[in-house]
Amino acid sequence: MKMKLPSAVISALYLSLTSATIYQNQQIRETNYPNTTVASISKHDSTWRTYAPNAHELSYKGRWDSKYISWWSAPGLKFGFQADQVAISFGQYTSPGVLIAYRLDGQDWQLTNVTANSTNLLVTTESEGYNLTSAGGTQTLEVRVTNWAYGVQIAGVHVNGGAHKLVKIPSYTRTIELIGDSLSAGQYATLEGISSYAWGLMYGLGNVEFSITAYPGICLHDSKCYGNLRGQTYQWLKVSDTSDRAIQIYGDDPPDWDFRAHPAADITIINIGTNDNNTANNVTSAEFTTSYIQLIDDIHARWPHTQIVVLSLWSGFGRVGNTWAQGAGFLDETQKVVRHFNGGGLNQYGRQGFVHYFNTTGILQHNDIGPEYHPTDFGHVKLASHLMQYLKLTFGWELEQTGPEVQHETLYWNDVSGY
Ligand SMILES: *[C@@H]1O[C@H](CO)[C@@H](O)[C@H](O)[C@H]1NC(C)=O
Ligand SMILES: *[C@@H]1O[C@H](CO)[C@@H](O)[C@H](O)[C@H]1NC(C)=O
Ligand SMILES: *[C@@H]1O[C@H](CO)[C@@H](O)[C@H](O)[C@H]1NC(C)=O
Ligand SMILES: *[C@@H]1O[C@H](CO)[C@@H](O)[C@H](O)[C@H]1NC(C)=O
Ligand SMILES: *[C@@H]1O[C@H](CO)[C@@H](O)[C@H](O)[C@H]1NC(C)=O
Ligand SMILES: *[C@@H]1O[C@H](CO)[C@@H](O)[C@H](O)[C@H]1NC(C)=O
Ligand SMILES: *[C@@H]1O[C@H](CO)[C@@H](O)[C@H](O)[C@H]1NC(C)=O
Repeated sequence: MKMKLPSAVISALYLSLTSATIYQNQQIRETNYPNTTVASISKHDSTWRTYAPNAHELSYKGRWDSKYISWWSAPGLKFGFQADQVAISFGQYTSPGVLIAYRLDGQDWQLTNVTANSTNLLVTTESEGYNLTSAGGTQTLEVRVTNWAYGVQIAGVHVNGGAHKLVKIPSYTRTIELIGDSLSAGQYATLEGISSYAWGLMYGLGNVEFSITAYPGICLHDSKCYGNLRGQTYQWLKVSDTSDRAIQIYGDDPPDWDFRAHPAADITIINIGTNDNNTANNVTSAEFTTSYIQLIDDIHARWPHTQIVVLSLWSGFGRVGNTWAQGAGFLDETQKVVRHFNGGGLNQYGRQGFVHYFNTTGILQHNDIGPEYHPTDFGHVKLASHLMQYLKLTFGWELEQTGPEVQHETLYWNDVSGY
């Protein structure tokens, strides 16, 4: 079968640091989010209490470095508090105007831009939902960075009013790691990291700690791809991603991720190779296969009990005659890798070896891919939903997110009953 595929996944690695107009479906997207910036909160103002970024009450989600700088896609900070106001100060390594999502308990996500050396007031008694907790009770604040190439540095957390204190929120016991490229980082999705299928899957399952170790343009094989200097067989072992800001801070010697200091992932999901399988990068079949086995060996060495799910690569859609067909990058290679760990079997529906094959064919259709070759928001939701059900059927993981918003800005519908 001969089909013409788009040049798979083209990833713009170098982002302009000036804010750009975002078009969605040929219309300008509104990005005038509320400005939460306030004058800096002086350490000497006795009505405010300031916690340093290393306070044990603060829980960092995803990969953060020893300077409390965030890396990769959708990293987060979560903590409990008893106070009337909560503000966060962002350090000098915060990207200019980076968009963060934040939520009070199970309220919907709010959005605001933050920048280096700014302090942002994120919770007041006027915040939606604030009064729904009984007086003096503990509320939680969760913050997520929405863009993979941008990050924040936490310089301090400030509380005022009430008992003016932070409270440690225990981590969930279920843990998932997701290793990928732009498809998993959420590139070209409405709110990027927090619109990706990776987010939809892992936040959507509920009660899951997770890390989205994904970066646009990156290859599996350790070679230069779309400007990324290293591939995931190298970078996954590091704290930082392959962004310009990482190179500015760490050059070619990024710190190792301390696997022993963080809980092992129960499940590791891998969706990688679409950039290897592109004439812009030309990783060979043999290099891809060998590197994939190496990555799985490296994961298994660090997390001997993790269950690994390998996603087949959908690689876009092409016209075949007067209809459409899905592509399949490195189809044989990906299956060969899974068979390597299963005595020749594919272990497609789980329950035998620790490496499982997840067949993506038939989940997406051609119009679930946007003009920039990545899933639309709708495509991301379809992938997330199928993967959630797969994890439930394969590993017995219940769907525990039973109400609070997961994807933001997805509420569009028809309000006319008949016409
Ligand atoms: C947000 O408000 C702060 C403090 O009032 C101000 O300095 C800053 O210029 C504002 N930012 C934007 C983008 O309007
Ligand atoms: C933030 O503050 C640091 C230290 O005071 C300074 O070096 C840096 O230039 C500031 N960055 C911005 C964007 O203002
Ligand atoms: C806020 O973030 C959005 C999304 O990244 C961006 O389009 C917008 O220009 C930013 N606004 C400011 C004031 O930085
Ligand atoms: C919550 O209660 C406080 C104190 O009674 C009040 O000032 C505030 O407006 C209330 N917030 C909301 C969102 O209704
Ligand atoms: C990859 O291979 C194709 C086909 O041989 C060739 O046209 C292309 O220039 C190669 N790309 C690179 C980056 O070497
Ligand atoms: C991508 O994978 C397909 C299917 O395995 C293969 O036919 C094609 O040659 C590969 N292309 C590149 C550039 O690796
Ligand atoms: C993946 O799913 C497609 C569509 O159902 C099917 O044709 C294909 O055989 C499946 N691949 C494997 C390896 O089972």
